Amino acid sequence: TTAMAQQASRFAFEGIAAQTDGTVHVPEGYSWKTLVRWGDPLFSDAPEFDAANGIPTEGSDRVMGENTDGMELFNVGGREILVVNSEYTNNDVNLPNTEDGTPASAEDVLRLQNFQGVSVMEIAEGEDGWSVVVDSPFNRRIHHNTPMRIDGPAAGHDLLKTEADPTGTESLGTFNNCGSGRTPWGTYLTCEENFNGYFGATGGLPSDEKIAAGYERYGINEEGSGYNYHAFDARFDVTTNPNEPHRAGYIVEIDPSDASSTPVKHTALGRFKHENAAATVAPDGRVVVYMGDDERGEFMYKWLSRDVYVPGGDTSTLLSEGQLYVAKFNDDMTGEWLALTPETTGMDAAEIAIFTRTAASAVGATTMDRPEWIAVNPTAIEAYCCLTNNSRRGETADDGSIRTNAGGDEMATNAPNPRATNEYGQIVRWRPHEDNHASDGFDWDLYVMAGNPTVHEDAYAGSENVNEGNLFNSPDGMQIDSSGIIWIQTDGDDSNEGDFAGMGNNQMLAGDPVTGEIRRFLTGPKGAEVTGLTWSSDRRTMFVGIQHPDAPFPDGEGALPRSAIVAVKRDDNALVG
Ligand code: FEO
Ligand code: CA
Ligand code: CA
Ligand code: CA
Repeated sequence: TTAMAQQASRFAFEGIAAQTDGTVHVPEGYSWKTLVRWGDPLFSDAPEFDAANGIPTEGSDRVMGENTDGMELFNVGGREILVVNSEYTNNDVNLPNTEDGTPASAEDVLRLQNFQGVSVMEIAEGEDGWSVVVDSPFNRRIHHNTPMRIDGPAAGHDLLKTEADPTGTESLGTFNNCGSGRTPWGTYLTCEENFNGYFGATGGLPSDEKIAAGYERYGINEEGSGYNYHAFDARFDVTTNPNEPHRAGYIVEIDPSDASSTPVKHTALGRFKHENAAATVAPDGRVVVYMGDDERGEFMYKWLSRDVYVPGGDTSTLLSEGQLYVAKFNDDMTGEWLALTPETTGMDAAEIAIFTRTAASAVGATTMDRPEWIAVNPTAIEAYCCLTNNSRRGETADDGSIRTNAGGDEMATNAPNPRATNEYGQIVRWRPHEDNHASDGFDWDLYVMAGNPTVHEDAYAGSENVNEGNLFNSPDGMQIDSSGIIWIQTDGDDSNEGDFAGMGNNQMLAGDPVTGEIRRFLTGPKGAEVTGLTWSSDRRTMFVGIQHPDAPFPDGEGALPRSAIVAVKRDDNALVG
């Protein structure tokens, strides 16, 4: 490569072609290897994975969980500790004893509960690459029955009290763990997204007005989304336990250095369908956490701590005492963070923490095209959010009115979400005023509008940095590495036809924040979403998550498809981020 060509691109690889097959592809000069699959043992007493039936219920809490999602790696005293979410389960694969994957017994329910949540595991690199250190004292499974502590303004509130926990401060389990985050003090943040789907009703929904309105806004209904927990585990039956759903939908903090620690649910950061949590430290030391609520027409949030982060100092208030804000985007490409307070919302502090969506609607937040991952650029004072798509943006309902989110906020097109029936998605970027993430104001632009210039000539062609060589749709996962490269992962339509022709399977691309150039780095197997990205401490390995493949990945013909984390390295062992 000439010096000029090197200057023209910050990428150390050539972009790869779109793929439609059942495996992973990376650029020339790189290779990948499976690190861990759903069902692999974290402990030597774990049951062996059966090629036809998977893992039995007994011991299902001793293996890597299913459907890997957000993850972060922590170096604890020189040891590499990987913490990874398991978002949900493919019930038809997990319950081969049932007709359609609907749990038919308490045992079936327990198996699904055990496969979800968070896996903590020590990993190490040997001659054969990376592998899990089975039986490491750091290894741990956190699942739908793991004891949690609740803190913040909603802790102890009547709406969080249940028969099993009259204090309203101790709950069981973390749910639908989607994206991740990490604090400056070395803890893991797991983000509860579609928690509503685990609940159902055996004898009707509660009639209390406030509770019913909350169910409406958060999508809790009689049927749930197929887990059928409520038929066999009364905790998930809202007929008898109407407050249990109020104990889910939070940011949960986990200490990866202590397998006996109790995870903490931080209600101060709000209750919604949390995608991820992107933390940074403002110039004065206060902690900022950006968060998205992934549902059509929902919002983007910012947490600002009251106290400052002091390395080695007391961190106990940093995610419980402070102010939650919601984003308002103006058409003139400015924006503001609107504080959610009793004065601005007419709700008390506990209600703001429990019914955060309602509070945000009250202050006039901007409806967004499904905010997925947010990433803070460590090399510039700016942040990015993947707005994955919104099939209903700008649509009119049967009565001619514009469609709304579940809170009645209109989803007309607006400046950061400019396309009706937005099937491709976009990434919005903002730069806080005064170069300070604690500022109330910001300027914003669109880093990329995904689209397809081979099919469309209008706004659906996408922005100028989209071309035949890097076509993609539905940006979702995102991390920005220490060199400032934006790694974008997709969770979209992989049909490779029609509006999606030439895009191939879901993928991971690298973006240059300055030039806007985007290159395709990795393609996933057919059916899979590429989600979750972290690095080894020496930055010579990147770990990438492959969720819900439908090809028999990674074991090949005849094997069950298994979500997996793959380790990607450069063949010359140089840095990968
Ligand atoms: Fe679990 Fe919004 O992705
Ligand atoms: Ca996601
Ligand atoms: Ca998604
Ligand atoms: Ca997913």
